[in-house]
Amino acid sequence: MTNDVFRARAAAEMLITSHELAARVSALGTELTRAYAGSAQPPVLISVLKGATFFLADLIRAMDVDVMVDFMSISPYGQSGVVRIVKDLEADISGRDVLIVEDIVDTGLTLNYLRKALAERSPSSLRAVTLLDKPARRIVPVELEHAGFEIPDVFVVGYGLDFQGLYRNLSDILAVRDLARMANDPLVLVDDLFGSRTPRPGP
Ligand code: IMP
Repeated sequence: MTNDVFRARAAAEMLITSHELAARVSALGTELTRAYAGSAQPPVLISVLKGATFFLADLIRAMDVDVMVDFMSISPYGQSGVVRIVKDLEADISGRDVLIVEDIVDTGLTLNYLRKALAERSPSSLRAVTLLDKPARRIVPVELEHAGFEIPDVFVVGYGLDFQGLYRNLSDILAVRDLARMANDPLVLVDDLFGSRTPRPGP
């Protein structure tokens, strides 16, 4: 075992396998099909770029009703606690059933902001679904109608979730054991997971 592989195994552990993800996403699809079966118009599923798009793609294929999708991009919360919309929706959601699709609800600040911002646009209904819910770190209480998995207070990567832009393409969700080590070497898992180390950016 090379030093890199040894370090990678020590750095993360399996939290949710791709099989568990597929089963839960399928069940959420059934739950949401029931929720929107009587809708006059297809619900608009809104996902925040980029992490939630992986979940969204699987979720809509597990739903047995017509849906529309749209995307937003928002600047992350800084110390100021202020969020800015970097890319807005293309759809007019007034009078529509709207479902926010999140990858993870952590502090709750992002979902809280989104719910308020979208509610101002007069949708006929507003709900939220998240793949992962990390309630231990919640700062603001926020309504969450549907959730895939409740997870403990760990930093996770995979299935769309990233660390510094890496690891979104893992099929499983891994818990990072040592975030400080990963911050020091963001590529620490690469050899073990993908077989070869991506060239590091030059100086
Ligand atoms: P919030 O803290 O609920 O506002 O979540 C903000 C965003 O932080 C999420 O949409 C994710 O992009 C990111 N995030 C929170 N926890 C994790 C994690 O464990 N792994 C990867 N990204 C995370």
